[in-house]
Order: sequence, then structure tokens, then C-alpha cells
Amino acid sequence: MRPALLIALLVMLITSSVPALAVPGLQDLMIQHYPQLKSGPLDSCITCHYPAREGFLNEFGINLKQYGNSFDKVASLDADEDGQSNHDELSHGQFPASRSDDPDLFIFNNKMGQIKFNHRAHISDPGYQINGNCALCHEGPKFFQKKYDDDLTIKNDAHSICWKCHKSHKETRPQAPQVCKDCHNRDIKGRR
Ligand code: HEC
Ligand code: HEC
Ligand code: HEC
Ligand code: HEC
Repeated sequence: MRPALLIALLVMLITSSVPALAVPGLQDLMIQHYPQLKSGPLDSCITCHYPAREGFLNEFGINLKQYGNSFDKVASLDADEDGQSNHDELSHGQFPASRSDDPDLFIFNNKMGQIKFNHRAHISDPGYQINGNCALCHEGPKFFQKKYDDDLTIKNDAHSICWKCHKSHKETRPQAPQVCKDCHNRDIKGRR
């Protein structure tokens, strides 16, 4: 190999491996502070990155970034504003950046019957044909806030945004809920 090429390759490797090395470091640091989380659902990139609120960080990741990655300094903050501090949530194995027990799946309780909305699948599963286009649900005159909150009703937006898209897929994706009971109190084996 020509020396110039070798140097270019080395520089590329070094610069590209800096963030990669820095990253698992933060996860390790979290486990040092909260050993009870080891190998559980929170011992994961999700805890700080998913779903992303700004760039590639969720609200807890943003807290960390703002406070120089100090777990002590972010302990008393409340990333998901649910009244429980980041420290309390991490101590109890709850995701600090989401009010949902599962940051991939949002459950909406209401009089008509519970809705289970798989946020992650809608974003990334090819069958949903959304392919990461957040704007379909989070931008425009009617949009969902980027905060899961079961205390607010999203009925009007849901019946327009969700249902309209499902109807447009009636022929191509018949699994997309078309009638009330497909969404409300849906209980289909093998699916969450
Ligand atoms: C405890 C929280 C935490 C966990 C867990 C975590 N990260 Fe991060 N990550 C961060 C923060 C905070 C930043 C931003 C750091 C900064 O910009 O100062 C970051 C930055 C990054 C970056 C961008 C690096 C750069 O400098 O551009 C990537 C990529 C990344 N993380 C991937 C991952 C992956 C993959 C995992 C799981 C294996 C992971 N992270 C786990 C908190 C975390
Ligand atoms: C199919 C519709 C849909 C798409 C596409 C979508 N979202 Fe969401 N998102 C929602 C709904 C609905 C909520 C919950 C709103 C509520 O409770 O009022 C939500 C909530 C969120 C939250 C808050 C999570 C929490 O736990 O509090 C974040 C962050 C978010 N979305 C980011 C994104 C990003 C980033 C993308 C694109 C990569 C995206 N969303 C694509 C519908 C969508
Ligand atoms: C595409 C999925 C979907 C379909 C189809 C659908 N809904 Fe809904 N509906 C929702 C969502 C999401 C909410 C908001 C839940 C929340 O905010 O807790 C909602 C809320 C409601 C509410 C408000 C309940 C309350 O407690 O305030 C009523 C009533 C309702 N739907 C009736 C219906 C009826 C009747 C049909 C059929 C004609 C229907 N929905 C079809 C998704 C759907
Ligand atoms: C931009 C289009 C689009 C939007 C917006 C959308 N969906 Fe869907 N959804 C789909 C498609 C396509 C499928 C069928 C996926 C398949 O064929 O596997 C689906 C499937 C579903 C299913 C059944 C499978 C599952 O994930 O459990 C539910 C329930 C559902 N959507 C609820 C909702 C709710 C609630 C909203 C609004 C908060 C929503 N969807 C918004 C396209 C959309």
C-alpha cells in the first residue's frame, strides 16, 4: 500500500473511532452509577437516544450533554416531566426520557378502548411504509407533540392523521386498521 493511502486510512480510522469509543463509555458510566440496570432493558442505547427528540438524543441524552455527561448533575432533573427525577426513574428501572414503560410502544387509555401504538414499527418497519419520515406525524398544521402523554386526549388528531393514512393503504396494506375495533381494544395474537 502507498504510504499516503495508508496515512489517509489511519486518519479515517482514528477520527471515526473517536465517537464510537466515547459512546459505549457513557453506557458503562451509567451502569457504574446504577449497577442494578446491568443487562436489563435500560442497559441500552435506547435509554439516552430513543426516540430522538433533537438530532439523535432523547431528552435524557440532552440533559447529559448539557451537563457535561455528569450523572450527578442530571440526577435531580426530570427529562420526561412526569414528576419523578431522572435519579428516581433510573433507580427503579424506568426510562427517564419517556413516560411510557416501553419507549417503543405508547398505550393510550380512553373510554372507547385502549390503543396500543407501536411508534418504533411505524417509523422503521418497512411494512408501514413511513421509512423514518417523522414529518408525517410531527409536522404540519395538525401534529402530535414529541412527548408521550396519556393524560391528554389525541382523539381529533388521531382520527384524522392515523386513520387517513390507514385508509390510503386500504388496498396495499390491509393490516392497517380501517374500523374502530382494529384500533380500539385491538387484540391480535402475535402482535403487540
Ligand atoms: C447513558 C446515556 C447514553 C447511552 C446509554 C448511549 N449513549 Fe450515545 N451518546 C450519549 C450522549 C449524551 C451523546 C452526546 C455526547 C456529546 O455530544 O457530548 C452520545 C453520542 C452518541 C453518538 C454520536 C457521537 C458523536 O460524537 O457524533 C453516537 C453515534 C452514539 N452516541 C451511539 C450510541 C450507541 C450505538 C449506544 C449503545 C451501544 C449509545 N450511544 C449509548 C449518551 C448515551
Ligand atoms: C405514525 C406517526 C408517527 C411517526 C411517523 C413518528 N411519530 Fe413520534 N410520536 C407519535 C405519537 C402519536 C406520539 C405520542 C404523542 C402524544 O402522546 O401526545 C409520538 C411521540 C414521540 C416522542 C416522545 C416520546 C416519549 O416517550 O415521550 C418523540 C421523541 C418522537 N415521537 C420522535 C419521533 C421521531 C424522531 C420520529 C421520526 C424518526 C417520529 N417520532 C415519527 C407519532 C409518530
Ligand atoms: C386509526 C386508529 C383508530 C381508529 C380506526 C378509530 N380510533 Fe378512536 N381513537 C384513536 C386514538 C389514538 C384515540 C385517542 C386516545 C387517547 O388520546 O387516549 C381515539 C379516541 C377515541 C374516542 C375518545 C374516547 C375518550 O375517552 O375521550 C372515541 C369516543 C373514539 N376514539 C371513537 C372511535 C370510533 C367510534 C371509531 C370507529 C368509528 C374509532 N374511534 C376508530 C384511534 C382510532
Ligand atoms: C403515514 C401512515 C400511517 C400513520 C400516520 C399511522 N399509521 Fe398505523 N399503520 C400504517 C400501516 C401502513 C400499517 C400496516 C402495517 C403492516 O401492513 O404491517 C399500520 C398499522 C397499524 C396498527 C396495526 C399493527 C400494529 O402496529 O399494531 C395499529 C394499531 C396502528 N397502525 C395504529 C396507528 C395509530 C394509533 C396511529 C396514529 C397515532 C397510526 N397508526 C398512524 C400506517 C400509518
